[in-house]
Amino acid sequence: MNILLTGGTGYIGSHVATALISAGHQVVCFDNLANSDAAVIDRLAAITGTAVPLVVGDIRDGDALRGAMADHDVEAVIHFAGLKAVGESVAEPMKYYDNNVRGTLSLVQAMADCGVKTMVFSSSATVYGQPQYLPLDENHPTAATNPYGRTKLMIEEMLADIAASDPEWRIATLRYFNPVGAHDSGLIGENPNGIPNNLMPFISRVAAGRLNELSVFGSDYDTPDGTGVRDYIHVVDLADGHVAALDAIVQAAPGLSTWNLGTGQGYSVLDMVRAFERVNGVRIPYRLAPRRDGDVASCYASPERAAQELGWTAQRDLDAMCASSWSFERTLAMRNTG
Ligand code: NAD
Ligand code: UD1
Repeated sequence: MNILLTGGTGYIGSHVATALISAGHQVVCFDNLANSDAAVIDRLAAITGTAVPLVVGDIRDGDALRGAMADHDVEAVIHFAGLKAVGESVAEPMKYYDNNVRGTLSLVQAMADCGVKTMVFSSSATVYGQPQYLPLDENHPTAATNPYGRTKLMIEEMLADIAASDPEWRIATLRYFNPVGAHDSGLIGENPNGIPNNLMPFISRVAAGRLNELSVFGSDYDTPDGTGVRDYIHVVDLADGHVAALDAIVQAAPGLSTWNLGTGQGYSVLDMVRAFERVNGVRIPYRLAPRRDGDVASCYASPERAAQELGWTAQRDLDAMCASSWSFERTLAMRNTG
């Protein structure tokens, strides 16, 4: 298929691009480069041996979207474009509703105008709010604890209404747990601007000496070692989950489906620190710090529905996540010095 990836030069979109090309699809990236670099396109070409077109545009620009879909005979869209920093969303909620919610409305309108009604959407485990039971399955009640999460919930609800209104739509909502790691090539990975909010990029930068020490947010949670437990999933496994979800919605009856993409396995912050040190032979200085506002003690998926309905399960273990994160960090360091 010809597939448009909004946010295709970002962290997850770029990995999904490689997986789709390996599976025989053609991809075109549509990105405003708000949080990514056009050079990713060259790296995708180096990894896949295929030129990947990039349209630099904003999803709030319907004409740009319609032009890209017509120029590239697009048959399906995978929608990654969005802002994702929780703290920033609390400080600047309008920016998040505008970019994420209005942007998605503009996208689905442009898709409808072009007769493209197959879509995979990047949602998040954040839509489960404070877990009422674990593991989290797709029937767990949803709730938002911050504006970022509320944009994901609003988009999920909007997509459900659209699927209900028109039987031609085929929509997959994928609720990601904690994507980490990088492509084996070391060429693409997660490289946030400024000081990372998320654990794995922070650990990588401490290991590289770019940051002095990790603050472990909370050591008195009701977890085996008192630190927060999350379901970390290798981004290459996550990418394969998108290929499986797209195949499934193309083959099944139209409508909307929701799948968790996680491993089902929880690891604590200290598990992550120790694994990263062991696998990569580095030291991660850390200090125990107060809890971070809005954090939950434990969050991990039931990946059963995706296993049964998509035939997809995560294959890569924690060691592979740590090794590939470090390999990408070192590639970045070489790029910056060389
Ligand atoms: P990312 O920031 O690396 O990628 C998002 C891309 O979208 C960037 O390249 C950015 O430039 C682009 N973009 C943003 N607003 C745009 C707009 N208005 N028009 C066009 N392009 C725009 O983030 P990511 O980690 O790859 O996340 C991709 C999606 O997955 C996001 O929707 C995010 O909310 C969701 N998600 C991510 C995580 C995670 O931990 N990374 C977890 C759950 C859900
Ligand atoms: C966070 C967001 C979530 C978003 C996800 C992916 C919050 C409350 N949640 O999830 O909405 O979908 O990122 O972008 O921000 N930790 C430290 N020190 C650090 C960083 C993190 O101890 O410097 C701990 C956290 O307290 C948590 C774990 O590491 O226990 C994972 O944190 P993080 O990577 O930020 O992911 P989430 O909080 O799960």
